[in-house]
Amino acid sequence: MIATPRLTLRRMEARDCAAVVAGIGAWEVARNLAQAPYPYSAADFQDWTATHDEGFASGENLPFGMADDMDTLIGGIGLHLRPDGLFELGYWIGMPHWGHGLATEAGHALLDWFRALRPEARIKSNHFKDNPASGRVLTKLGFVYTGRTLQIASLSRGCKVDSLAMIYQPTEERP
Ligand SMILES: CC(C)(COP(=O)(O)OP(=O)(O)OC[C@H]1O[C@@H](n2cnc3c(N)ncnc32)[C@H](O)[C@@H]1OP(=O)(O)O)[C@@H](O)C(=O)NCCC(=O)NCCS
Repeated sequence: MIATPRLTLRRMEARDCAAVVAGIGAWEVARNLAQAPYPYSAADFQDWTATHDEGFASGENLPFGMADDMDTLIGGIGLHLRPDGLFELGYWIGMPHWGHGLATEAGHALLDWFRALRPEARIKSNHFKDNPASGRVLTKLGFVYTGRTLQIASLSRGCKVDSLAMIYQPTEERP
């Protein structure tokens, strides 16, 4: 469990199903995620969360829910080890909660926690080119653009989407 000023980052549980289906189920959220099906169902939530125990046990897949002060899930954030040996940061916030700095707040807390746990790990992310808000979040978190444009498959859109690659390089680590 990771505490931020306004959120608790915690494991997702069966009781979070409706909140996650409502959050990721919105097209404006799903269209900006690579691996979320659309429409997003309770079965999708159950299939996904069934992988979480193994992910946390191996340390290779670390998905957290973002719970508000009523312990209601308003978003999700996670780090996943990719085949290239880098961890990838991903996140979403339910639409009613956009624009209040919550993704940035959760991101700082998760990255601080992870860096203390795995100081040697390298972290990357990317965002679809038509999703500049996520680019802004990543920049605020200390990611910089690598200059590479990737073609990332989006399950919800059913096609590959131009994406901008970023690498985590907080200010104190920049030359
Ligand atoms: C992207 C997302 C996580 C942002 O969540 P949030 O809690 O609103 O983010 P924050 O408030 O911490 O920061 C958003 C920043 O983007 C900026 N922004 C918003 N819309 C923007 C746009 N169209 N163009 C550029 N910047 C934009 C905001 O002004 C803010 O920057 P600022 O603090 O400098 O003003 C949320 O919109 C979301 O869940 N989108 C769908 C899923 C998604 O995109 N996930 C990331 C996949 S890579």
